Amino acid sequence: MKQGLVLDKVVLLGRTFEEYVRCFALDRAALRGQAILDVASGVSSFCAEAHAQGLDSTAFDLIYEQSLEEIEARCQPDLDQVVKVIGDLQTYRWGFYKSPAELRRYRERAYKAFLADYRIHRGTRYRSGKLPRLPFRDGQFDLTLVSYLMFVYEDQLDYAFHQQSVREIMRVTKGEARFYPLVSFEAKRCRYLDPLKHDPELRHLRFAEVTTDFEFLANSNSFLRIQHRCDPLGAPS
Ligand SMILES: C[S@@+](CC[C@H](N)C(=O)[O-])C[C@H]1O[C@@H](n2cnc3c(N)ncnc32)[C@H](O)[C@@H]1O
Repeated sequence: MKQGLVLDKVVLLGRTFEEYVRCFALDRAALRGQAILDVASGVSSFCAEAHAQGLDSTAFDLIYEQSLEEIEARCQPDLDQVVKVIGDLQTYRWGFYKSPAELRRYRERAYKAFLADYRIHRGTRYRSGKLPRLPFRDGQFDLTLVSYLMFVYEDQLDYAFHQQSVREIMRVTKGEARFYPLVSFEAKRCRYLDPLKHDPELRHLRFAEVTTDFEFLANSNSFLRIQHRCDPLGAPS
């Protein structure tokens, strides 16, 4: 029997810049001058807020083929669906958000800031497409972030999707990519994580799990960092 959040589809919930900083333990000063890609950005306001601070950020998601009105129509129902049940689940820690009402305020702030920016910058800083393919050049980005799509939706996205997506994300990333969280909605370590680290197809990559001080979904206080190995044969470095 499932203990955690049960979803029949990937929901359209977005986080703010502040939440990304916490989830990925980002050093705000170090972001300056970096080309940042936010994969599966959805209705997160990370990209909008990053630009407002003078950062160079691109957002990518399959919903960006839709109009503002189509996306807007999904925001509140998806948020209602989650907020209604999340307070009763044992798989969440409320140290940061305190209550479902405060969580709702964060998510509303995010999608409203996103919509205002999307209205103006759709097709430029908001690029549509579908993982495991990305419409970007090799090494175009210094830092790529993936929040709340890979690993956490392990029941809906299979191993092949994860393996191909990691390869593609690292094709367009010359620095590092960070993935968060590393647990499923059941708050258990994603079953694909260790096989990916030992996958011969990914031996050109180096994996590291980094502990953070942020935990909402239980056991989510870490992110995965992936970088290119210097040694093309994949010997441990
Ligand atoms: C839960 S939201 C996460 C949004 C944002 N990253 C955040 O943490 O606030 C998941 C997003 O993944 C997007 N998505 C699902 N499958 C995708 C795919 N194959 N390629 C690109 N985006 C996808 C959905 O459209 C949705 O916007």
